Amino acid sequence: MSIIKRIKHFMRHKPVYASISYMNASDKLKGKRIVVTGGTGGLGLAMAKRFVAEGAHVLIAARDEKKLDKISKELHCAALRLDVTQVETFDAFLADAVRMLGGIDCLVNNAGISLHEYFETVTPEGFDAQISTNLRGPFFLTQKFVVYMLENKVKGHILFISSEVGETADIRPYAMTKAALNCLVQGLAYAYAKRGIRVNAIAPGITATAMTGYQSNGDLTVWSNVIGRAYLPEEVAELAAFLLSDAAGCISGQIIASNNGSTVNARWKM
Ligand SMILES: NC(=O)c1ccc[n+]([C@@H]2O[C@H](COP(=O)([O-])OP(=O)(O)OC[C@H]3O[C@@H](n4cnc5c(N)ncnc54)[C@H](OP(=O)(O)O)[C@@H]3O)[C@@H](O)[C@H]2O)c1
Repeated sequence: MSIIKRIKHFMRHKPVYASISYMNASDKLKGKRIVVTGGTGGLGLAMAKRFVAEGAHVLIAARDEKKLDKISKELHCAALRLDVTQVETFDAFLADAVRMLGGIDCLVNNAGISLHEYFETVTPEGFDAQISTNLRGPFFLTQKFVVYMLENKVKGHILFISSEVGETADIRPYAMTKAALNCLVQGLAYAYAKRGIRVNAIAPGITATAMTGYQSNGDLTVWSNVIGRAYLPEEVAELAAFLLSDAAGCISGQIIASNNGSTVNARWKM
């Protein structure tokens, strides 16, 4: 859209709200033991809620212990403190999670940060923080989880929360972390398919969470995507529940964008 068109549009602008549909919860994940990193807010919290509603045993992991305590009581799920930048704690974390859930079938690598900086303002500290949280942490947590799965003959699923920006040309460290995750997802899926391990990613468009500042019940106008609104965390959770379910048994190595096709490589884009 040209700048003039955008300004005219803005002058006429009415707030955009979401109206979304859900499938009925139906024990799709009954008995599955699922660890969700970053399960105390935004997408992680919405997924944890959805997984519990689908009959899963869920463990949420994040840094803020007060939030972990409060949310685990509300959801009736387990909780453990985890900072995904602290790779040296992963062995103890997984051992505790296995003990608390009686084993683990699925890992959801959701915890992530975005510093929303532009190329010229990226600092080495900011670069390292995003690489460490969004890529290095999930890489090594997944490595340890895969070893656990192989040693215990667990057939399960690993889901990464990537981003639509990982599928586009971009100059920010955040996008680079997500592009690297997409590469990892496809490599892992191929490498471990014969061992019964599925690996997928969801690549959400801009979603209403603390990371973006959009409120689920507020104005969700987004100028940069095809439907003009931000998504709700529950829309991502719906897809995640399907991917972790046995109904998705033949789906692996996929990066599924939940953005109405905003990042397809179409020539006729406006
Ligand atoms: N929101 C979007 O528009 C959007 C779009 C595409 C992709 N994503 C991706 O979706 C994922 C979730 O984002 P969100 O929007 O839900 O973010 P959010 O609302 O800011 O929630 C982030 C969650 O991650 C946890 N977390 C952050 N740093 C952590 C660390 N070092 N170790 C452990 N947990 C940590 C936070 O809890 P503590 O602070 O207590 O640790 C919180 O539970 C991220 O990977 C993000 O890149 C988001």
